[in-house]
Amino acid sequence: MEEKRAEWSSHISFILATVGSAVGLGNVWRFPYIMGKYGGAVFLFTYLFLIAFICIVPLCAELALGKMSRKDTVSAFSLINPKLKGFGWLCVITVVLISCFYFVVGGWILQYLWLFITNNIPENFSQYFPVFASGTVVPVILTILFLILCAVFPFRGVNKGIEKANNIMMPLLALMLVLLAIYSLTLPGAKEGLEFMFKPDFSKFDSTMVLTALGQALFTLSIGMGAILTYGSYMKKDTKILKSSYTLIGFDTTVSLLSGIMIFPIVFSFGVEPTAGPTLIFISLPEMFSQLPFAQALGALFFILILFAAVTSGISMLETAIASMIENFNLTRKKATVILSVFIALVSIPSVFSFGIMKDFLIFGKTFFDFLDFITSNILLPLNTAIICLVAGWLVKSIKKEAFGEGIISNIFYFLLKTIVPLIFIIVLVAGLI
Ligand code: PHE
Repeated sequence: MEEKRAEWSSHISFILATVGSAVGLGNVWRFPYIMGKYGGAVFLFTYLFLIAFICIVPLCAELALGKMSRKDTVSAFSLINPKLKGFGWLCVITVVLISCFYFVVGGWILQYLWLFITNNIPENFSQYFPVFASGTVVPVILTILFLILCAVFPFRGVNKGIEKANNIMMPLLALMLVLLAIYSLTLPGAKEGLEFMFKPDFSKFDSTMVLTALGQALFTLSIGMGAILTYGSYMKKDTKILKSSYTLIGFDTTVSLLSGIMIFPIVFSFGVEPTAGPTLIFISLPEMFSQLPFAQALGALFFILILFAAVTSGISMLETAIASMIENFNLTRKKATVILSVFIALVSIPSVFSFGIMKDFLIFGKTFFDFLDFITSNILLPLNTAIICLVAGWLVKSIKKEAFGEGIISNIFYFLLKTIVPLIFIIVLVAGLI
């Protein structure tokens, strides 16, 4: 059944939706711990450079492909050349695979929010987390609950569901983030935290760090899987892509920085290693919260913030697949949402079990959860992004003006799109495999 092609009702709604997609666990969970691991400020400056001059290029290209085709990912690519249909599906598969581990973390967030709201704060999070995450029932139920929480919005439609969700959650997220960052700056470790973030130690500069920064930039901007293309397909005709892209990058980076400002002063106030890794927000931070004044409120606010970030990203993952399923399988929106959700729920189960009964079930030496993370972030994202650049640059004539406007900047970005940027992503891909 065909439904009328939806359109964002205003420019602000478009920006909030793309920011909602971009701002997610990548900003509040992954960015701080990766930055911690790769030396703080050096990582930050490399990342900023890459995002402003390299990743801007595929970002604009994806938005332009969406805007020009006004179609879902699969149809947009088959419109360029029917042979590219399979590539469109590869993008959709990428986003579905990402959701199969992302939603597991979403389930953990629900659990932590519940702990803080009900004031059942465990004494020792480093003991609590592995016991909780290795469970077979509760984490599965929570993953499904999180999935449903995301799915209700695309189920209701682009304007009535997705747009409303972002219009409400994103401003609240910004408010909570600013409040928490200000609170953090009053803590004794604030100075040290800020120094760690902004004072570069150039001895930490190396190629792994650059590759990681680039992977993080793709992940955080939701590039390379059709998510941004799908949201771009609902944009109004008069939206300027280059300008909107820099606005998006500006917001996304601000959220990542504020997350760092919120987290590192706490980390340094307690003398915890900033390199704690993925468990930073599930073990070290909650442990510190419980020793600070207003522990309960602090923890609850922090996890609501992360929940909003994760839900608005989850929505955009689902919508990418749903839009393609509606068009290509002739399904209604509601049916597509239900089928997709059941599929994701099933594939997420081995992801959940990667922390418990399946932790010894290894694929190429990785648990199912880590394997999904690895093939998407290290292989599929750079691969898809390189292909998107090449397809847009060489096969779509009008892309230059649509994506980058006119003038010298446009010439430079167009040249980068056709040559250097895809090359960079291919290098990243090969390096990731080695
Ligand atoms: N950009 C999101 C984040 O940083 C992740 C995401 C990936 C969202 C793919 C949509 C699609 O958390």
